[in-house]
Amino acid sequence: MRKLMMTTAVATLIATGCISAFSQEVKEVEMLHWWTSGGEAAALNVLKTDLANEGFGWKDVPVAGGGGDAAMTALKAMVAAGTYPTASQMLGYSVLDYAAAGVMGDLTETAIKEGWDKSVPLALQQFSVYDGKWVAAPVNIHSVNWLWISKPVMEKIGGTEPKTFDDLIALLDKAKAAGVVPLALGGQDWQEATMFDSVVLSTGGPEFYKKAFNDLDEESLGSDTMNQSFDNLAKLISYVDPNFAGRDWNLATAMVIKDEALVQVMGDWAKGEFSAAKEAPDTDFLCYRFPGTDGSVIYNSDMFGMFNVPEDRKAAQIALATATLSPSFQSAFNVVKGSVPARTDVPDTDFDACGKKGMADLKAANDGGTLFGSLAQGYGAPPAIANAYKDVVTKFVHGQIKTSEEAVTELVKAINDAR
Ligand code: GAL
Repeated sequence: MRKLMMTTAVATLIATGCISAFSQEVKEVEMLHWWTSGGEAAALNVLKTDLANEGFGWKDVPVAGGGGDAAMTALKAMVAAGTYPTASQMLGYSVLDYAAAGVMGDLTETAIKEGWDKSVPLALQQFSVYDGKWVAAPVNIHSVNWLWISKPVMEKIGGTEPKTFDDLIALLDKAKAAGVVPLALGGQDWQEATMFDSVVLSTGGPEFYKKAFNDLDEESLGSDTMNQSFDNLAKLISYVDPNFAGRDWNLATAMVIKDEALVQVMGDWAKGEFSAAKEAPDTDFLCYRFPGTDGSVIYNSDMFGMFNVPEDRKAAQIALATATLSPSFQSAFNVVKGSVPARTDVPDTDFDACGKKGMADLKAANDGGTLFGSLAQGYGAPPAIANAYKDVVTKFVHGQIKTSEEAVTELVKAINDAR
């Protein structure tokens, strides 16, 4: 009885927060992510090493699948079971969804102490701050409107930088004539939609992209310009090899690395694969903006969404967030990842030519109002709408939707249904 009374008294003290002596700090970070390719794993190692140096262990929860759809399904199950990871890799609107569901932690104290509001671009703060509280630490800024080209293949076919969509088609024709796979693509919905983001920007211009894919303006979504965008997508798809269905994005990058294909249209995480294969820009590969999109940047940013973990895991979470946003980490990590820093005050000294261009383009787009969220990558609209978009694009690419007219009608309908 006496023992029971003691126990009850102690429990009350713990519950009221009067003592914490029993809760030993857990010096470990549990992280859910989809960084399983060579370049991605190398980048993640930079973080693991930084945390290990500070005495924090790493519990890895990798869920393979580029673009993160499988990872997000796994996260949903963990959160439903009440077993929150310390943090999860997340994209844009899904951070806001989890914050609205009340399961995110609050890093505001750390953010204020470290002045994140002054160093993190506002475009990212829109997704890492919810209801006045910092709920996520942005790791990087990726952009999707890039071409990744094999330099040896380019030389072999005597090609030059394509400045217009028609130039790109002419270049793809040259590769085809030379017996090289012109376009390396993985036929998965998120890869196809990521490429289509660039096609729409190129076909319709910056204002059109914003109206259609950020403002979700119904007239733009259903317009002739969208019809023409699907026509252009169909043209590109005619240059892929017969085995493209289901191929992982990094295997498509490998085709360019091995000079088996001319070009991949992909976010700059592809550069992480070139770096991991010890290839360098201008020597082994070329990075150009998708033709007709110069001056604009379609971005996404990997965020570490911070969950409302128990008290004994909070110190590790703060260490993770602090490490993530430290200027030296932002440089070291993004050099390896292919992305650019999520802070505006990190020098470009250590970045290669493509990274330097990425940083300069980002600044110009941010200053000039031509920085747009990627609809395919979770920064154009909430997940339900992004999924509807990916679904229509992939049906078009794989022939379940036969014409551009039908694709436009389906796109308007699918997005309206998901609103
Ligand atoms: C993106 C993510 C990148 C990269 C890519 C392929 O969604 O932002 O960091 O990992 O998926 O996995």
